[in-house]
Amino acid sequence: MSTHEMSTEQQRVFIRFDLSARIEHILLIISFGMLCLTGLPQKFHNYNWAQDLMNAMGGIETVQTMHHLFAYMMGIETVYHIFALFRSIFIKKSPNRFSMIPGLKDITDALRHLGYNLGLVKELPKYDRFNWKEKVEYWALIWGTIVMFLTGAFLMWPEVITRWLPGYFIPAAKAAHGGEALLAFLAILIWHMYNAHLAQGKMPLDTTIFTGKVTEERMRHEYPLEYERILAREQKETGAKLG
Ligand code: HEM
Repeated sequence: MSTHEMSTEQQRVFIRFDLSARIEHILLIISFGMLCLTGLPQKFHNYNWAQDLMNAMGGIETVQTMHHLFAYMMGIETVYHIFALFRSIFIKKSPNRFSMIPGLKDITDALRHLGYNLGLVKELPKYDRFNWKEKVEYWALIWGTIVMFLTGAFLMWPEVITRWLPGYFIPAAKAAHGGEALLAFLAILIWHMYNAHLAQGKMPLDTTIFTGKVTEERMRHEYPLEYERILAREQKETGAKLG
């Protein structure tokens, strides 16, 4: 897929997310959203709102079956992500294949960003394809997914797990599963929704992850290092063709 195209106003538009990444995001919205909807009322079953919500969804057994089905869906999405990653690294050898790996620059960027917000630094750091906030969110998702699958498997197959591990691992897994679920739900609600809907220039919704497209203006402003690299690569390619 090309890295850019022209919009109707002939303003240059860059392709930030390919179809595969866009599909993954939709799968995540559905599976994670439904897992929260069917999981959190179980955790808060002592409250009326949770009982009402579970009754509206067909009762506790239906809610649990739905929870398991959406867990499988999230599992399929996770396997899909691993394949997409392998394809990007080993087959396509994409120039962006290591762009989510954190480095020292992310730490200095975060500190600089803090300084900017406090009015101590005049300019925001120059970001690459993914800024420090996006990397934190990605790795939190990876970590959270591992915790949820591990503890979820303990809850799904307790009789198998307790063949090898002591019984108290099951209530411990339940506490970790419910706690991480609440943390993930709040992180998405507060941090992710703020960045996607409310942050400067994003209101009412940053549609990039759905359309894959981002304007040149935003590339220059938000991801200047990647923008400069794409332009340098294009210049080199044009030079090679002419030469
Ligand atoms: C990020 C996604 C997930 C969220 C937000 C979530 C949320 C929750 C919550 C809040 C509970 C109630 C815990 C309590 O009662 O304290 C729960 C229960 C449970 N979850 Fe999850 N969960 C997720 C993923 C998974 C996965 C991947 C699995 C399976 C591997 C799983 C399997 C279970 C099971 C077996 C239970 C016990 C109740 C039941 O049988 O449905 N969950 N989940």
